[in-house]
Amino acid sequence: MKIAIGADHGGFHLKEIVRALVDELGHEVQDLGCYSTVSVDYPDLARLVCEKVDAGSVDRGILICGTGLGMSMAANRYAHVRAALCHDHYTAHMSREHNNANVLCMGERVIGQGVADDIVQTWLAVEFSGGRHLGRIELYSKC
Ligand code: RB5
Repeated sequence: MKIAIGADHGGFHLKEIVRALVDELGHEVQDLGCYSTVSVDYPDLARLVCEKVDAGSVDRGILICGTGLGMSMAANRYAHVRAALCHDHYTAHMSREHNNANVLCMGERVIGQGVADDIVQTWLAVEFSGGRHLGRIELYSKC
């Protein structure tokens, strides 16, 4: 898959680790920044990733900030983005199976590297189950 990845200064270190993992798993990664721990505004990075997901020029996006909260709030403003803030295996699994999430958000200050690895691998592997869940996510456009 083509995957765009972005982080603010609070997620920079985890983004570097996640980028290497996603690359190792055989995906095409587009790293849209940031590229250091210099303070930046997370909505700017969310925009760079979500514009690509929204336009369909990448398959998925991954966004990391300190908590994952700001990134998920900003990302869900895009019409075709379904961003999920995941802090464990179960939410990563269910965000794909029931919600067909196309953007994964994580908080570097909340989870460790081992949990992040598991979340990313799970989120990239689990398929959307469709069925009644398809009808439900189609209702997002009416919210
Ligand atoms: C930056 O200090 C922090 O506010 C940001 O990374 C994120 O946690 C916002 O939701």
